[in-house]
Amino acid sequence: MSFDPKLQKSEPQLALRYVPESEGEAASSQPDGQRRILVLGATSGIAEATCRLWAARGDKLFLVGRSADKLNAVAADLSVRGASFVDTTAVDLDDCSRHAEVLSHAVNALGGLDVVFIALGVLGDATEAEHSFAEAQKILQTNFVSVVSLLTWLAGYCAQRHHGTLAVLSSVAGDRGRKSNYVYGSSKAGLSAYVDGLRNRIDREGVSVMTIKPGPVQTAMTEGMKGSSKFADVETVAATLVRAIDKGTDVVYVPGIWRIIMGVITHIPEFVFKNLNL
Ligand SMILES: NC(=O)c1ccc[n+]([C@@H]2O[C@H](COP(=O)([O-])OP(=O)(O)OC[C@H]3O[C@@H](n4cnc5c(N)ncnc54)[C@H](OP(=O)(O)O)[C@@H]3O)[C@@H](O)[C@H]2O)c1
Repeated sequence: MSFDPKLQKSEPQLALRYVPESEGEAASSQPDGQRRILVLGATSGIAEATCRLWAARGDKLFLVGRSADKLNAVAADLSVRGASFVDTTAVDLDDCSRHAEVLSHAVNALGGLDVVFIALGVLGDATEAEHSFAEAQKILQTNFVSVVSLLTWLAGYCAQRHHGTLAVLSSVAGDRGRKSNYVYGSSKAGLSAYVDGLRNRIDREGVSVMTIKPGPVQTAMTEGMKGSSKFADVETVAATLVRAIDKGTDVVYVPGIWRIIMGVITHIPEFVFKNLNL
């Protein structure tokens, strides 16, 4: 099945580097069981730990991040761990004009797509973002706008083939706005709503769309935060995510206890919540 550029009117350059299926792409999983996995924001602590597990299974990985040096180090490690194919592209994903080109290149390199793992994200400076729109915009751009741009292309690609899993890292922070971090929280609330809606549109096309909501995890993003030694271990989180992505679970709280915690938090009346220091 070839890609229909009419479905991607906003990305006219899409077809330029796309190799039609007949020239090497298979819509469904590889017969050898190795999955073709595209990781966006691949130098993230959570992505790296997850990729290590996929590499050990012999999966094929295409890594996209903004630092070539970090990507090379991750790619070398994943090759040693058993990945049957690893390739990388360094690009700042805030530049949405590059998305069609990067995604087409990744699809061509992998020979199709089984799983996409979207992990890019920034915490930003919450205090600065209260007063500086430039800081707020940076957070919204990376966590929401850039991911929507990536998913617009990827959803079209997967829906046309009736195949693929789109696994997106949002956050429990998106479940309720809190005074301490509402700009980051709103970027993730927007993302969760977008991903949920996308799932409801294309699930019937045979595409799994997953909203992943981690609680606090020990990675570079949370390093030095108060209480960070008690945050979830990234290897444990990765193992949960690999299992959930295999199943194509719709909404994943990780660790699972966060489903209950957020269930409670979202039910606290606003007149009480606004007086809490959360
Ligand atoms: N850690 C947590 O407690 C936690 C909790 C809930 C949700 N999450 C979400 O989970 C995801 C992964 O987080 P993490 O903890 O693994 O954080 P991390 O280690 O800080 O990773 C974030 C990644 O995003 C990449 N990135 C940021 N802006 C980018 C851009 N414009 N273009 C390309 N890559 C970009 C970073 O690249 P560089 O390496 O170049 O900086 C980094 O690899 C994020 O979306 C985060 O919001 C994390």
